Amino acid sequence: MRTDSDDVSSNRSGNPPFQRVLAERFSRRGVLRGGTLAAAGFLLGGVAPNLARAASGEAGPLLGFSAVPLSAEDTVVVPDGYTATVFVPWGHPIRSDGPEWKADASNTAEEAARQFGSHHDGMHFFPLGQGPQASRNGLLVLNHEYVDQALLLSDGDEEMTQEKVDKGTATHGVSIVEVELVDGEWRIVDSDYNRRVTATTPVEFSGPVTADHPALAALDPQPRGTINNCSHGVTPWNTYLACEENFNNYFGTTDDSWEPTPEQDRYGIDDTGFGYKWFEVDQRFDIATNSEEANRFGWVVEIDPFDPDHVPVKRTALGRVKHEGAIVTEARGRVVVYTGDDQDGDYIYKFVGSRPWTELLATGRSPLDHGTLHVARFDDDGSGAWLPLTFGEGPLTTENGWTDQADVLLRARMAADALGATPMDRPEWIAVQPGTQDVYCSLTNGKAGEGEANPRSPNPYGHIIKWREDGHDNTATAFTWDIFLLAGDPAHDDAVDLDEDNMFGSPDGLWFDPQGRLWIQTDVSNSAQHDPDRGYDTIANNAMLAADPETGEVRRFLTGPRGAEISGVVTTPDQTTMFVNVQHPGEAVDMVGEPTPENPRAVSNWPDHAPDGRPRSATLVIRKDDGGVIGT
Ligand code: FEO
Ligand code: CA
Ligand code: CA
Repeated sequence: MRTDSDDVSSNRSGNPPFQRVLAERFSRRGVLRGGTLAAAGFLLGGVAPNLARAASGEAGPLLGFSAVPLSAEDTVVVPDGYTATVFVPWGHPIRSDGPEWKADASNTAEEAARQFGSHHDGMHFFPLGQGPQASRNGLLVLNHEYVDQALLLSDGDEEMTQEKVDKGTATHGVSIVEVELVDGEWRIVDSDYNRRVTATTPVEFSGPVTADHPALAALDPQPRGTINNCSHGVTPWNTYLACEENFNNYFGTTDDSWEPTPEQDRYGIDDTGFGYKWFEVDQRFDIATNSEEANRFGWVVEIDPFDPDHVPVKRTALGRVKHEGAIVTEARGRVVVYTGDDQDGDYIYKFVGSRPWTELLATGRSPLDHGTLHVARFDDDGSGAWLPLTFGEGPLTTENGWTDQADVLLRARMAADALGATPMDRPEWIAVQPGTQDVYCSLTNGKAGEGEANPRSPNPYGHIIKWREDGHDNTATAFTWDIFLLAGDPAHDDAVDLDEDNMFGSPDGLWFDPQGRLWIQTDVSNSAQHDPDRGYDTIANNAMLAADPETGEVRRFLTGPRGAEISGVVTTPDQTTMFVNVQHPGEAVDMVGEPTPENPRAVSNWPDHAPDGRPRSATLVIRKDDGGVIGT
């Protein structure tokens, strides 16, 4: 987003900011240079072999491509020997008989619900078939995080109407399509699987906060929709988790007498939201008269892509926060789900299943409904603890105003405040390393730090933290942690151990491929992009990089078009096709320009570059010209 509402902290708990903890650790070690673990001379238990890769008998360097240079051009650049092709852009019909996208943005709300949404984000490829066929045919499932109304609507949003609200809600949500590789090209299959989940699709609630909970008793008796779906997760039983991030942005009111409750304030709900103005014409989004509607958001939503009739389920045991993602791993047969709550000064969470997931499924229970949510505390000595958000334990008692477990989950941020969790610099994606089960989290940027002596306070560039759960057991309640790297431009911060081939800012998307490459995607906000006063004069357009987690080597793999962030990445099982999302090309960039209904091309006209067109988000297909594994 151009100006991230999540840059503004709503955490008033007074828990020590992560930057102070980081500073204390750095000064304790006497290390101010060297962003990687290796450079800092600190390795958690020594260099962990990449078990997945070793098992496959592969040798040689993990990164085999030539770095691409920084770019300020309105195009996508990938390394020599690779080709990137635009696959599914915003507005493309999800079936061949669907409505064609109109470049003047005149598609109706009804048409939008039968097209791909906008602002592509988290994404997964679910293989169909076995062996080589699993990499040629599958279900592509992707989130549509938000909309830019200057580009979505042919006459912009100066005047709001119900039809505009309906087009906006239809353009949010999730797309599910069957895709296949034929003669070297990916195409959409007209399949029963193809469908949209939007911000008006009927949904169910499960777990401790049930649909009939008074806090969810909004005007519409039928709970509907998912919104601001940022990153995602995938369960071992092959369902997709769409995560609700900045849900507060959609609510507001024209009632001057309205004041937020402490709970609403803690979740960043105010009278204007992000400027969508939907509440002006649609009472659903009026926080003064329909406040319970906002409690229906901030959840992780499970969708079965293999069942076209499946009703999405909000899994409330995972807590109500601004979920960036919900990264699922497995330990001792249990599911473990990691979530970053993306707001400046907010927390990292972990859900641990109560019993082996196979046992729960076999008895008709969801493994995501039975378990304990925890929040992370990072201690100064490099250790850490997972603190349970359990009603009746610690400070979460009746005496302190907590009524039951549903209350704890509805107000998870406040429960985490009470437990003494560590405020972080905007936790975004989380990734679990194959083999070691170490966990990496991108902290995109922030300004919660204190003191002149703190080299990263404020922290405009972000960093990546990693931790190892005790005994490599992701269900553990204790861990050790360190900094994997500090992002940034070494010309502005000599603590940054990057150069022109790999410098970047604001890490966001993180994903380990099956061979253990860590893919890093960036989201420098368009208010900072190219701005020397923000230290972003040379870093240029957003990018995707690959890192070797053992050596700390980082190399730039892709640069995006103007105004876009890069977010969402997955490969086919054989790793010869990579899908990558380009989100919000052409959004207003303070140092470049601002799109208007009269000139939607002020910043970008990617990917179509049509003279009368407009920029649009899209999924890229990336293949190696020799048919090899992406990244080699
Ligand atoms: Fe949706 Fe925090 O990025
Ligand atoms: Ca993100
Ligand atoms: Ca971001």
